[in-house]
Amino acid sequence: MEATLEMPKTETAAHAKHHNPEHILKIGMGFWASKTVLTAVQFKLFTLLAKQPLSGNQIRQNLGLHERSYLDFLDALVSLGFLTRKGLGADGVYSNSPDADFFLDKNKPSYLGGILEMANNRLYRFWADLDEGLKTGLPQNEIKYATDDSKNQFDAIYGDPEALSEFLQAMSGIQMGAFMAFAKQFDFSKYSTFCDVGGANGSLCVQVAMNNPDMQCINFDLPVVEKVTKGTIDRFELSSRIKTAGGDFFKDVLPQSDVITMGNILHDWNDEEKLVLIKKAYEALPKGGAFVCIENIIDNNRSVNTFGLLMSLNMMIETKTGADFTFNDFDRLAHQAGFSKTEWMPLAGPTSAAIAYK
Ligand SMILES: C[S@@+](CC[C@H](N)C(=O)[O-])C[C@H]1O[C@@H](n2cnc3c(N)ncnc32)[C@H](O)[C@@H]1O
Repeated sequence: MEATLEMPKTETAAHAKHHNPEHILKIGMGFWASKTVLTAVQFKLFTLLAKQPLSGNQIRQNLGLHERSYLDFLDALVSLGFLTRKGLGADGVYSNSPDADFFLDKNKPSYLGGILEMANNRLYRFWADLDEGLKTGLPQNEIKYATDDSKNQFDAIYGDPEALSEFLQAMSGIQMGAFMAFAKQFDFSKYSTFCDVGGANGSLCVQVAMNNPDMQCINFDLPVVEKVTKGTIDRFELSSRIKTAGGDFFKDVLPQSDVITMGNILHDWNDEEKLVLIKKAYEALPKGGAFVCIENIIDNNRSVNTFGLLMSLNMMIETKTGADFTFNDFDRLAHQAGFSKTEWMPLAGPTSAAIAYK
């Protein structure tokens, strides 16, 4: 009898037609595309091409690249939508795509590559230990190798001025779109004072001050950050309307203000610590004052905001106890702290504002 090669009944050709491996491969091999873009940012390729379009060969010489793969690198960036190209091969002329030119040219104020620089220098390698983090629940960044057990992620990074500066730029890069949207969308007309707690280099205060000429602002952060913040405020010539305050938000009283924001602060800490911070904000607000948390708030069903869910995994990599949260989680904690009303305001992409009124 002749042997026949038959597909199992459940996997007939007709059935297989309904399956498509594209999504699986795209996500599974996503690190190829990610690392290609991160490397282009590291090489300052987009800053170079913002000055003028260049041929493949000129780019190779400028960046000191080997002949073997530089065209694959550049053309992969074309296919990913980061570059455009006229012609082909070494003489083909490459330019930035409009978004790459706006957001990835280091000489423009709209540069958000800080977060990508940090992703390349720190997170990319730390995420290689995601499996270990998931099994142990322990951070996988510098804290893992710190000899002093009491260190948190900020102590670990802030000891090194270069790492501090890179971290602060990364923070403002990832939040800039949301900060701009919040400064325009939120109704500041009832209020006159504003404090951004954990405000890093002062980017949110700058946006609020620029868009709301009657607001007086305070940027509150650890004393080690103050010098960098003052530099940002001076660059925007806003020192008459933005002051800095150095302090520890767990130990010190927060400055009394009508509106208090925390951008990507609560997700660094566990629920008990989150509640302590929300209560501190409550105490510093007048009746009717607003506490605003600007983060990648996860949808209540925990199935749509992929960036928020992945950010929460990133908090496992980066912090001892932190995790992102849903709007319902925020609502529960805010009411526990004494707030009477909460609302949700979408801002930019995966980032939104969870607002609590006293
Ligand atoms: C994740 S960053 C967020 C920065 C900024 N708010 C944003 O949205 O991009 C956390 C900030 O909290 C500050 N921070 C951490 N621990 C602090 C503490 N105990 N007291 C005051 N600020 C603190 C850090 O210096 C840093 O600027």
